[in-house]
Amino acid sequence: MPDDLTRMTLQVKRAEAAADRVLALSLEPAWGHLPAYQPGAHVEVSLPDGTTRAYSLIDWEGDADAPAAYHLGVLLEADSTGGSAHMHTLKTGDQVSIGAPKNSFALNDGNAPALLIAGGIGVTPLISMAAALQAKGAAYRFIYAARSPAAMAFRGELEARHGKALVLHFDDQAGGPPDLATLMQDAAPGTHLYVCGPRPMIESAREAALGAGFPADRIHFELFEKTAPREGDQPFEVEVASTGQVFTIPPGKSIIEVLEAEGIDLMYDCQRGDCGICQTEVLEGEPDHRDVVLSQAERDGGKMMQICVSRAKSARLKLDL
Ligand code: FES
Repeated sequence: MPDDLTRMTLQVKRAEAAADRVLALSLEPAWGHLPAYQPGAHVEVSLPDGTTRAYSLIDWEGDADAPAAYHLGVLLEADSTGGSAHMHTLKTGDQVSIGAPKNSFALNDGNAPALLIAGGIGVTPLISMAAALQAKGAAYRFIYAARSPAAMAFRGELEARHGKALVLHFDDQAGGPPDLATLMQDAAPGTHLYVCGPRPMIESAREAALGAGFPADRIHFELFEKTAPREGDQPFEVEVASTGQVFTIPPGKSIIEVLEAEGIDLMYDCQRGDCGICQTEVLEGEPDHRDVVLSQAERDGGKMMQICVSRAKSARLKLDL
């Protein structure tokens, strides 16, 4: 086993289609076993262009104490220019460099009842959670939505393992997304909600959960997609309050990317707008919120923003940095 497991080179043991545009990958080490991880964990895979891409780890057994392999599910994104497109070229025998597992979407209380809601490839971390809950004998309900049966990865394995706890939903057959409000209202008292999927699903689920009386600390979510630049994005300035320095944030770059390149030390993790670690106080200016962390009231207040994804509606933001 290498001395330093913060970066590991693994070999692709299996690369198979799991659904339309979804590739299931198993990565194995040249030594005995890999570092342990908890449900909800992800690894960052190095890409040829020097960037990294996070993928959740799939643990089918609910016991990843000494895994012999890491299993991933990779969606080929429609507009991919490198990340998922590169991952989809991998085949058995190829080598992949990854970081050690990290977890910003952990099971909060593995004994409490859980409502798991997955949208598309957002199912991957929830597979591990469902397995862990099942292994503990905890009550759980697992709602898995996809655009169509052909787009649903891992269906057979999930049906075999989770029986009646699993509810499948196909948008094309149902005429739209699942009825989240009813799901939340039907949840047992004390239920923790875990949602992983695209932004609209997370926003709807959170709103439905709050409406059904879930306390905020029982609502957990993770976006599986990075925030894409939007048409019409404009450059804006960021003033660092502590030094008075001013930087221009161009379209296609985040505040974090620009400031970090200028040597400013920042705290962040997900860079998708769902973990809340990069939250920063806004002293002047109007943010253009693109995260899923802040509530509508916090957004309307305009005093905080997630600097990994959010931009500005005003020409300049003065940030408490
Ligand atoms: S780094 Fe996670 S919300 Fe910004």
